[in-house]
Amino acid sequence: MTQPIGIGVIGMGWMGAVHSRAYQQVPVRFDDAGVRPRLVICADEVEARARQAQATLGFERATADWRQVIELHDVQVVNIATPNN
Ligand SMILES: NC(=O)c1ccc[n+]([C@@H]2O[C@H](COP(=O)([O-])OP(=O)(O)OC[C@H]3O[C@@H](n4cnc5c(N)ncnc54)[C@H](O)[C@@H]3O)[C@@H](O)[C@H]2O)c1
Repeated sequence: MTQPIGIGVIGMGWMGAVHSRAYQQVPVRFDDAGVRPRLVICADEVEARARQAQATLGFERATADWRQVIELHDVQVVNIATPNN
């Protein structure tokens, strides 16, 4: 049985997009993994970047506030792809 796993990505620059595309590939590359990533929410402090990522990568929601990502009960993985500082 395939289990959905909720993903939230914070920072929708280069690496945020790379990681999001990697999650999309899990069912193709690891069809026996038993999990199906679900792109629940993406966040970027530049709101237009978050909205664009939602549109192009298929996230269910977008936000300019990273706190919303860690508050959602249907997010099991918080993927931080911001600069280190
Ligand atoms: N680009 C690479 O090839 C690469 C490879 C390995 C590791 N990294 C690391 O990945 C991290 C991100 O790099 P990148 O190239 O994707 O940078 P980027 O500048 O393309 O993207 C970073 C994004 O994070 C957003 N952001 C910053 N602070 C935020 C906050 N508080 N809340 C929400 N969003 C915020 C920015 O608006 C930006 O869109 C860095 O730590 C970098 O060292 C990058």
